[in-house]
Amino acid sequence: MGNEKFVIQGLEGQRVLEGKASVRGAKNAALKAFAASILFDDEIQIDNTPLIQDIENISRLLKHLGVEVNQISERSFRLKPSSAIGADLSDDIAKSFRSSIVLSGPILAREGRVSFPHPGGCVIGERPIDIFLEAFEKMGAKAERDGERYVVSADRLTGAEIIFKIPSVTATETLMMAAVLTPGTTVLHNAATEPEIVALAEYLNASGAQISGAGTHTILIKGVDSLKSKEPFLTPPDRIEAGSLAILAAACGRDVEIINCCTDHLKVFLQALSNIGVNIQKTENSIRIKSSPQLKAIDIKTHEYPGIPTDLQSPLAVLMTQATGRSFIFETVFEGRLNWLNDLARMGADITICDPHRAFISGPTILRGREMESPDLRAGLAFIIAGLVAKGKSIIHNIYNIDRGYENIEERLAQIGADIKRV
Ligand code: EPU
Repeated sequence: MGNEKFVIQGLEGQRVLEGKASVRGAKNAALKAFAASILFDDEIQIDNTPLIQDIENISRLLKHLGVEVNQISERSFRLKPSSAIGADLSDDIAKSFRSSIVLSGPILAREGRVSFPHPGGCVIGERPIDIFLEAFEKMGAKAERDGERYVVSADRLTGAEIIFKIPSVTATETLMMAAVLTPGTTVLHNAATEPEIVALAEYLNASGAQISGAGTHTILIKGVDSLKSKEPFLTPPDRIEAGSLAILAAACGRDVEIINCCTDHLKVFLQALSNIGVNIQKTENSIRIKSSPQLKAIDIKTHEYPGIPTDLQSPLAVLMTQATGRSFIFETVFEGRLNWLNDLARMGADITICDPHRAFISGPTILRGREMESPDLRAGLAFIIAGLVAKGKSIIHNIYNIDRGYENIEERLAQIGADIKRV
């Protein structure tokens, strides 16, 4: 697997892709539902699971802790924790993806103790975990370092008033899960509002939790004694995958329909795409993009939901190289997420990086195929789009970083006419 790469034949700017591309379940929703299994005594079921490397990673981590994980059909998994769950996350697996940190909340609530390494994942900034540790301490836990690992323990957790300094997605989910089985009321102020958080809260509520306000910046959680799984967690469509496919269609498509998505989760992004001049027809669950005569430069600012997701910044940058005029990116969420633009510039893009958060891209430019490494999941997909737009052949290495979040992406792109092969 480590040596696999994508070989892409560029379309030289022609817009020829055609057909339907189906969106899979959201990685960042399914992973949190897998983590939630620890809050239950009985078996839970997760449907519409994307078959991606990060799901394999969390399954391995959960099995290691004593959760049975069974795939019962193509996209449905059943998870059942044993009566005694381990409290120590395995170093090598936990370090390989960011969502491993989300397990800390349910394990702490259930076992009164959890230890874990600093979570890994995409290298897109410093990605500290201070917000998690401070919030656990507010609930009565003690957070310590033991060498490279964190150890969080509590004789008794209690509901607390927690004020996040930044609306962190995984901290909101982690603390929501820690509070669900904790006596008393917990209030999360300045909580993140992403749709994946709402999906998790709705599922927990359907299982007996008492969470209100998910999807707003104030979430109130009244602790309950136990949860009982009544219906499967239905993983919502991946809004980042849908948005990335829409960008690919705008850059290289003649007539591409993206199906099984939720356009309500992409309002601000789709408005930006329309402002660039992309010809979009949307329904509640599909986006059809036909070849647009001319793309125009645009200024974007990434933002927490419902703003333009930081995860769509990299594919949007590729589209900017094909638009006429000078576009501007203001990346407000992560300080390392513009680094990959240096590689895009090596493909011929006209890019000025002003500082870790700001860059200008002038277009249109002809991109030239190159050999490159996928630095992170989202930039990896952006390189695929760039490779397809470009003239000549591109080779993308380190595609583990793409497989972590996109299920068989090459097959779905080949179905709409892209020349991309895994070798
Ligand atoms: N932050 C802190 N301290 C903390 C936690 C976060 O300062 O303790 C900062 C971060 O450094 C960042 C900001 O808060 O500047 C917001 O980050 P957030 O915590 O919301 O990001 P995350 O929870 O680590 C999730 C997604 C990311 C997505 C971001 C932003 C998961 C597993 N990851 O990360 O997705 O980019 O929210 O929407 O849900 C991806 O899927 O490839 C991915 C990177």
